[in-house]
Amino acid sequence: MNAPLQSWLKDQLQTLRDQNLYKTPRHLSTPAGGRVTMDGKQVVNLSSNNYLGLANHPKVVAAAHEALDRWGVGAGAVRWIGGTMDVHQELEDRLAKFKHTEAVLVFTGGFTANSGCIPAVVTDKDVIISDELNHASIIDGVRLSAAKYKKSEGYVYGHKDMGQLEEILSRTQEFEKRMIITDGVFSMDGDIAPLPKIVELAEKYNAFVMVDDAHASGVLGKNGAGTAAHFDLYGRVDIQLGTLSKALGVVGGYIAGSAPLKDWLINRGRPYLFSTAHPPMVAAALIASLDVMENDPEPMKRLWDNTRWWKKALADAGFDTMGSETPITPVYVGDEGAAQRMEKMLFDEGVYALAIVYPTVARGKARIRTMPSAAHTQEDLEFALQAFVRVRDLLSTSAT
Ligand SMILES: Cc1ncc(COP(=O)(O)O)c(C=O)c1O
Repeated sequence: MNAPLQSWLKDQLQTLRDQNLYKTPRHLSTPAGGRVTMDGKQVVNLSSNNYLGLANHPKVVAAAHEALDRWGVGAGAVRWIGGTMDVHQELEDRLAKFKHTEAVLVFTGGFTANSGCIPAVVTDKDVIISDELNHASIIDGVRLSAAKYKKSEGYVYGHKDMGQLEEILSRTQEFEKRMIITDGVFSMDGDIAPLPKIVELAEKYNAFVMVDDAHASGVLGKNGAGTAAHFDLYGRVDIQLGTLSKALGVVGGYIAGSAPLKDWLINRGRPYLFSTAHPPMVAAALIASLDVMENDPEPMKRLWDNTRWWKKALADAGFDTMGSETPITPVYVGDEGAAQRMEKMLFDEGVYALAIVYPTVARGKARIRTMPSAAHTQEDLEFALQAFVRVRDLLSTSAT
């Protein structure tokens, strides 16, 4: 073992502990659901992205079993080397229809879809203009690119600040291509990007738009087709990223757009070129998830009924949900230590809801992030609300 490395790691970890930024994942011993067993305790789970409860929907599970028997467990190779199985092709065709785009290319994760697509579509003659609250996987994809992108050089706009976006667009006309990139639904705040205005500005200044719909897929638009569908912007968003890991309940990510975009990413999207395809049962399970989303309105209705109830109940009880508009419902705390204490106390009360602290959000903007889903019953949410109120009362008593 290399001594300088080990001692550096220990120092770094101690710094994280000292700053209340150290994370330890809890142990989950039941399937993802509204109530789970975590570290041996039964809790209401408000920390899952399984929006529609599809992660263990019987039809999705049955499709995975069937594909396992037919195809075995592995894809064998990268798709362009080993060949694309029928089931992978069918998934992409289904997703393209679902997104109303010419084509879709699937990657093994939403993260890799961002890091594969973004650097592939820009060069050193281009600029990427980003919302300051974009997800880490967008930021990493942007950093991998040869384009200009830095905040210090003036290419990042304040969160949803359309005046600032226009100002950047008006002073970057010398670049060959300009890409505006935004989350569709912001993953830590739960608000929705002003996509109609972004698209209008992009069209005015001849820029193109990429939207990351990780948290809009299955949540916004008809059947959960995403932010472009929600705002009726079909055909006007050049690149849409979706994840297959959250509402669709399995794992993966995809890029939806034109046929030449797909062709280009098959040739230049590095995680597609150099990483093995999903196990076929993953693709089959995802086709079944799409079947449910397109034919059964019930999960999405339950998701939104639960979301509306939860947000109103929190607001009525005096919690600040930070202007969230979607199921992602942050409960503002501010101080990192207080948020982590609150997370622990909620767990003791039987509620699992994660404290989100720096570097996931800015320092001093810690929050408890809650995610109501179709998998929750009314009883689960009422139980969770009472726990939030009790913990807040206990914290305020201990502070006085
Ligand atoms: C906005 C956003 N984009 C991309 C991703 C990555 O998706 P995946 O979990 O499929 O890799 C996430 C996941 O947290 C996300 O929130």
